[in-house]
Amino acid sequence: MTPRTIAIDGPAGAGKSTIGALVAERLGYLFLDTGAMYRAVTLAAQRRGIDPDDGPTLTKLAREVRVNIGPPTVRDGRAYTVLLDGEDVTWAIREPEIDRIVSQVARVPYVRDAMVEQQRALAERGRLVMVGRDIGTVVLPKADLKVFLTASAAERAKRREEELRARGQVRPRQELLQEILRRDRLDSERAVAPLRAADDAIIVQTDGLSVGQALERVFAVLTRADAREGPAPHGGQASRS
Ligand code: CDP
Repeated sequence: MTPRTIAIDGPAGAGKSTIGALVAERLGYLFLDTGAMYRAVTLAAQRRGIDPDDGPTLTKLAREVRVNIGPPTVRDGRAYTVLLDGEDVTWAIREPEIDRIVSQVARVPYVRDAMVEQQRALAERGRLVMVGRDIGTVVLPKADLKVFLTASAAERAKRREEELRARGQVRPRQELLQEILRRDRLDSERAVAPLRAADDAIIVQTDGLSVGQALERVFAVLTRADAREGPAPHGGQASRS
């Protein structure tokens, strides 16, 4: 039986969104990129001039804003459309200023509670691929398959540089590397739902792999899970060859 709920976690720039969307497409599953939800709340905070370290005001904001993620409404290379109170913010949430402050906003406990509630509701019907930082550990601890997608920070900075260049934005790789390291640190050290691989996640190292190769690696994991006809085993396995 193909796993009905697939959780993909990993650090910034590991390729979760790209791979997750492709896995979902191939299986005909719903794809939910939870990072986009935290980014949308961050954009709302930035527009209202809220300090990203002001937990109480961010808590209030998370109660007020409506974030929706759905199928692409415009054919401009997007994998999904993100609405913030009905406004299309799909590209606005990818601006460097959001990259810079999103991890501060995402560490506020109530902001997380509000997002996790929506994420779990979407997962209820199954047949979905959800990507983020805490999907296998907190949001869907009973997911049928958990993958932790990772790569060295240098590789992730290189990919981010190429991804931005493809969208016409040029940013020095060194600057992107520093940003990724800072975000990794904030995401891993926060008190609530820190970034880490679930004990029963299968770790997929993607250094030096193309998108196609990384995708095949994930499908190999999926096929093995398929053959077992049950949830992923405990103990964490490395798949590196
Ligand atoms: O695309 P990239 O890997 O750079 O980041 P993202 O997945 O869009 O996530 C942006 C930020 O949202 C992360 O750095 C985390 O601070 C936060 N996030 C989170 O806390 N929990 C999640 N499940 C997903 C994202």
